[in-house]
Amino acid sequence: MKQISARPRRYSEVIGLGVHRASRVVPNDEIVGPIDSSDEWIRERTGIVQRLWAPDEVTIVDMAVDAAEQALTHAGITADRLGTVIVSTISHPYQTPSAAVLVADRLGAREAGAFDISAACAGFPYAVGLADGIISSGESDYVLVIGVEKLSEWTSPTDRGTAFIFADGAGAFLLGPADAPGVGPTIWGAEGAEFDAIVVEPSWTDLRKQVASGGEFVWPTLHMQGQKVFRWAVSEMVTVCHHAIEAAGLTPDDIQAFVPHQANNRITDALLRGLKFPDTVSVARDIIMTGNTSAASIPLALDSLMREGGAKSGDLALMVGFGAGLAYAAQVVRIP
Ligand SMILES: CC(C)(COP(=O)(O)OP(=O)(O)OC[C@H]1O[C@@H](n2cnc3c(N)ncnc32)[C@H](O)[C@@H]1OP(=O)(O)O)[C@@H](O)C(=O)NCCC(=O)NCCS
Repeated sequence: MKQISARPRRYSEVIGLGVHRASRVVPNDEIVGPIDSSDEWIRERTGIVQRLWAPDEVTIVDMAVDAAEQALTHAGITADRLGTVIVSTISHPYQTPSAAVLVADRLGAREAGAFDISAACAGFPYAVGLADGIISSGESDYVLVIGVEKLSEWTSPTDRGTAFIFADGAGAFLLGPADAPGVGPTIWGAEGAEFDAIVVEPSWTDLRKQVASGGEFVWPTLHMQGQKVFRWAVSEMVTVCHHAIEAAGLTPDDIQAFVPHQANNRITDALLRGLKFPDTVSVARDIIMTGNTSAASIPLALDSLMREGGAKSGDLALMVGFGAGLAYAAQVVRIP
């Protein structure tokens, strides 16, 4: 029987980082009125002091392209060399085509395969895992991974459970081939039985039926069972993080930076208690000044940590994303 020939296996590494920070600063005081809340309550329960929202005219494609161009410049690679563009988002306002095809076109990535993934707040490490596999298999040399959200458009200002958390922004990694592993194995999973723990509702089909039968048009927005998500993240993600560290052949003592999804500062605190990192580990706390940007939060938080001097090129970072789905993913990466 004839064998199929495959491309030689190899490793991947992150070689570029870029971000787009949304331009509109929204302090807690601007949010609290319609939800009968307070600056103090939001700070105490989440750590958030302000969030960044994009202006009306700025789309997720604009933000993604800005972050991607910076990642390409950082790596010194031109867009025509990209083999794949992956966008992780839950806020692209078209059912099809994907945001990634628009991003690839705007970048001038004419030879790249381009597609979106939907893994919500786990989306960035999901996409990094995919990129690692695509490069390792020899399918593409350079893969652009972008997490981007404009959650201000999908959040109800009167929902007490979500109005104060979500925000906008984009972050990108460029990954390329490497002689030594720069991305550890991805530990991922999902608990679809908890579909309604975080969900954008109504669905388009329910909305169509509702309107057809004379009901009101209700713009779909995020709904969240906050306590359920909190308990799940705190009880399950420590094990996921430990598996990602072990799968990379490391121990918590080898990690220099912890970059969790910026869901809530109290979730980060609880994870830290379980992870038992040495005191020298720096911890990303970008949620305080940026809010929760779902798929964009990990690269944005890594960028902040590096700007503050908490992490540097060559350090090992543990990334973990978790949220709607309830999907989760974690891996160790060497910081570009
Ligand atoms: C959303 C979250 C901050 C809510 O905090 P909580 O402590 O669970 O809040 P609860 O719903 O239990 O309500 C506690 C109290 O605060 C009040 N409250 C609820 N929402 C409020 C708001 N926005 N402002 C002021 N008070 C509020 C409630 O009425 C309740 O008051 P009571 O004790 O007098 O009855 C918290 O559940 C959370 O962080 N969950 C995880 C969310 C997350 O990370 N999501 C992102 C995943 S990607």
